[in-house]
Amino acid sequence: MSQMTNEQSATKEVEAYIEAQAELDLLRFITCGSVDDGKSTLIGRMLYEAHSIFEDQIAALESDSKKQGTQGNEIDFALLVDGLAAEREQGITIDVAYRYFNTDRRKFIVADTPGHEQFTRNMVTGASTADVAIILIDASQGVLTQTRRHSFITSLLGIKHIVLAVNKMDLVDFDEETFNSIVETYAEFAKNLQFESITPIPLSALLGDNIVERSRQTAWYSGPTLLGYLETVEVWQSKDEDPFRYSVQWVNRPNANYRGYSGNVVSGQVHINDEVRILPSGELANIKGIQLYKTQLDEAVNGQSVTITLDREIDISRGDIIVAADSPCEVSDQFEVSLVWMDSEQGFVGRSYWLLIGAMRVNATITDIKYKYNINTFEKLQSRSMSLNDIGEATLSLDRPIPFEAYNSCKPLGAFVLVDRYTFATVGAGMINFSLRRAQNVHTQALTVNKQSRSRLNGHPAKVLWCTGLSGSGKSTIANALEQALHKQGMRTYILDGDNVRQGLNKDLGFTDADRIENIRRVAEVAKLMVDAGLVVITAFISPFRSERDMARSMFEEGEFIEIYMDVPLEVAEDRDPKGLYRKARKGELPNFTGIDSAYEKPESAEIVVATAEHSIDQCVDKILSAIQEKIT
Ligand code: ADX
Repeated sequence: MSQMTNEQSATKEVEAYIEAQAELDLLRFITCGSVDDGKSTLIGRMLYEAHSIFEDQIAALESDSKKQGTQGNEIDFALLVDGLAAEREQGITIDVAYRYFNTDRRKFIVADTPGHEQFTRNMVTGASTADVAIILIDASQGVLTQTRRHSFITSLLGIKHIVLAVNKMDLVDFDEETFNSIVETYAEFAKNLQFESITPIPLSALLGDNIVERSRQTAWYSGPTLLGYLETVEVWQSKDEDPFRYSVQWVNRPNANYRGYSGNVVSGQVHINDEVRILPSGELANIKGIQLYKTQLDEAVNGQSVTITLDREIDISRGDIIVAADSPCEVSDQFEVSLVWMDSEQGFVGRSYWLLIGAMRVNATITDIKYKYNINTFEKLQSRSMSLNDIGEATLSLDRPIPFEAYNSCKPLGAFVLVDRYTFATVGAGMINFSLRRAQNVHTQALTVNKQSRSRLNGHPAKVLWCTGLSGSGKSTIANALEQALHKQGMRTYILDGDNVRQGLNKDLGFTDADRIENIRRVAEVAKLMVDAGLVVITAFISPFRSERDMARSMFEEGEFIEIYMDVPLEVAEDRDPKGLYRKARKGELPNFTGIDSAYEKPESAEIVVATAEHSIDQCVDKILSAIQEKIT
């Protein structure tokens, strides 16, 4: 076969595939609930009823169920899903998050990862395009806080259709009253959410009631069965007229003559010769080629992963968004977002995280938590931190502008996760509601006299000498002596000292983690202004958290920020106890005291470490001076 024929047949195959895809009536849904609610059993039952289980798996299940002593039914369907989970852990099945099955009427994709992880994955991968959410309720338990939380998140995710799957009806003797009362409680709660339809169904996933066949046990129920509902529910379909959005996953450059951009069409469609705009740079180009594997296409549509080439050389990198030239998306660095917190470590105003959105990664700081919800009452609560499972509205500030869409107009470009920069744990997930107007309307004013000119006049560069260490470690004393020495050398200096700044600028702050983070954020900002003014700034703050010290460092130019760790054992600092505070803390009269019941995270890569317990003040100052001499003159 000639190469030509090969390619032609490949094209045919691809075209047939695309056509089949287009004609496919596909329903995506998620199930929300815990294993205790019977989630695994429900999914297992649906797969079974839809004949998606292979014969040998059924045989295995039957024997496993017998081993586990299942009574009253032949097969424990939870074993099926859990069994597949075990298989997944060994890396055998390819798809970790989704399960595919079909009936005669429809194809289904169900996301079945447990708990919060489900939402994380869905949001990141854009599968928050789920059309329907099944909210599982244990009929013997009723509506729980978890039910409300899942419903809340589902509503934030923009899922409009809810099945209220009241499971384990067999445990309540298929009692109509129990069912009705759960439905009423839920309806009362859900009227505050943005759902278009809520369909309550009484079920027993274990016994199969109302899954596929109508149950004789619920003669009082006239609604659909679960599968019947899923097969027929009308759902919103993605519109072709949506503007073109393409997320660049990687730049494909096998040789000097070819530069392709591989990625995903997240909205709309694109044709050869279309004019496009590359964001954030804003540069324009025309589409030269669209490739799917080895096949050249004339167009690419929403959902397709392709490689495109442009008619001119432009610097494009991973994470850039290519959009229709005449309908670009916004670019911004400040957002109002809905945020779901997923980590046992609290999230704080002023702390910065990695924000992952599409293929982009940027630093993001939580600048404000406007409120978090009491999800049982919808009350809005004031807070400066987010705890595990909290849902709230917050503002974020990024360290560079990114192209984005509001989540409700384009989910893949509006859903993000926050990742801890040290542990790489996904700590939060969220949705962009809108860009803050101030991001667009505040512009940097270029000033003629700048840091460089001020430094020239001063005769020395500007620096921050950031002293950190326990209370009583000698920060203030050494900062003071250090300033005297620098002053003598004719340098323009200033000391920002914790106890002093806390009597003015920061007198509204105490010693909770949230307040300390804000304390350091403000001090870093002030130090930055002072450095801009050409000064050598010495700061003396405990600054106990690595995250904020690093944040402060990141605000300065390379070499401008010098971290000085006053390294003393806690016993020595406590023994010195210059202000009698350790004594008070030990007596329980001073809560949140650093080193006692509030953490101090030692620096791992401070430029200078001084052991103030082992050396005199003069020796410590000399050590610092000789370490910075080169940098400062
Ligand atoms: S920081 O943790 O936010 O960096 P900062 O350096 O501003 O603290 O203030 C620390 C000073 O406040 C200490 O030297 C001590 O005099 C005083 N202080 C009062 N309460 C506390 C406390 N709970 N923990 C630590 N320092 C305290």
